[in-house]
Amino acid sequence: MSKVAVFGAGYVGLVTGACFADLGHEVVIADILPERIAALRAGEVPIYEPGLDVLLERNRERLSYTLDVAEAVSGAEFLYIAVGTPPTYSGDADLSAVWTVVDSLEGVAGRAVVVMKSTVPVGTGEKVRHRLDARGLEHVGYASNPEFTAEGTAVRDFQHPDRIVIGAFEDADAEAVAELHSGIEAPIVRADVASAEMIKLAANAALMTRISFINEIANVCEATGADVVSVAEGVGLDRRIGSSFLRAGIGYGGSCFPKDSLALKQLAANSGYHFQLLNAVIEVNELQKRRVIGKLQQHLGGLRGKTIALLGLAFKPHTDDVREAPSLVLAGRLVAEGAEVRAWDPVVHGADVLPQATILGSPLAALDGADAAVIVTEWPELADLDWARAADLMRNPLLIDGRNLLDPRALRAAGWTYDAIGRASA
Ligand code: UGA
Repeated sequence: MSKVAVFGAGYVGLVTGACFADLGHEVVIADILPERIAALRAGEVPIYEPGLDVLLERNRERLSYTLDVAEAVSGAEFLYIAVGTPPTYSGDADLSAVWTVVDSLEGVAGRAVVVMKSTVPVGTGEKVRHRLDARGLEHVGYASNPEFTAEGTAVRDFQHPDRIVIGAFEDADAEAVAELHSGIEAPIVRADVASAEMIKLAANAALMTRISFINEIANVCEATGADVVSVAEGVGLDRRIGSSFLRAGIGYGGSCFPKDSLALKQLAANSGYHFQLLNAVIEVNELQKRRVIGKLQQHLGGLRGKTIALLGLAFKPHTDDVREAPSLVLAGRLVAEGAEVRAWDPVVHGADVLPQATILGSPLAALDGADAAVIVTEWPELADLDWARAADLMRNPLLIDGRNLLDPRALRAAGWTYDAIGRASA
């Protein structure tokens, strides 16, 4: 069993740390936020990620938390970097948190391996290598081991991945990182460091491309009288295409896709290449988030003085993450149009998330007296709602189903004027 230090107690760091502890390793998780470390030490989980609480509790003996880098580094064979890499003003990835960790590493004994879990531009590993060497840490190894976990299913994704990607400068380091994963059944893809970094960016870009593709197909379906749900089913059964990431909706959000698409676009641009397809994917997504406004206007005329209920705030179900969530864009646009915005979400409660909206405690409370409702996040609670009762509460029972969650016929039978994404004929 190994000793693993994980830098960053966010979604990625906590899941990585908890899953390594569950494999039997001794894990210390370091962060710079005292309140976060205090909460973790007290047995509280500072984020909502299904299964994480159980894992942290089950492996309490093997997990510790610290603010002290030296304590984390002491005796660690693996130094996992899992800090945020948000976009800068220019769209490039902000690596300042990564550099803070790299520059704080001291007293690393033996051949510990620095492992990059954070999503970084291609070429970062090379730069980290130079920086470590310049600081007299030539004996420390370096590997890229990108994460492919999705929020809401991160624990399962970590424990049952499609593949484990490892890129290292030295074979022995790649082998050590592979060994650290023993107990997880998955093909291991060994690559050079730059390719491992690019695999992560390319995988996310491919998924985003599928989403923007199906969203454009949805928009053409609307214009031509086809139903995108049937179309996606028929297209997805082609084994060469596959059915995942073909759900049309109001666009992708979250802490990864929007920032990673910008980072890849900038990475290409900085190297003198205009990534035309990726630019289109990003633009389609921006327009898609705004299409709901057009639909509301079509049905209601102007939105000034109208009360609109947003159902779901998180960027996807089973997470409390609202980073780049379509709900934020929608709320902003609705307020700009003069509408009054109400919102409900089962796990996002803080009014600070959406100060322009009134946050209510149940879907029915949000719908009571509203002129229209929008399904923004496909929470299971919404699939199970008593929609006939909900229609009676509305001033005007208009529902825009931004995630194609519900059965159009059932909703119309329940008294709703029902509109969705790309479902003209449904
Ligand atoms: C994504 C990837 O799926 C992970 O593999 C990757 O590790 C992660 O980014 C990351 O880079 O860290 P995540 O953003 O957590 O994970 O969630 P997804 O389930 O991929 O959803 C992203 C967005 O796409 C959501 O807004 C979702 O609503 C949207 N989406 C997804 C669609 O609109 N249609 C689909 O068919 C699928």
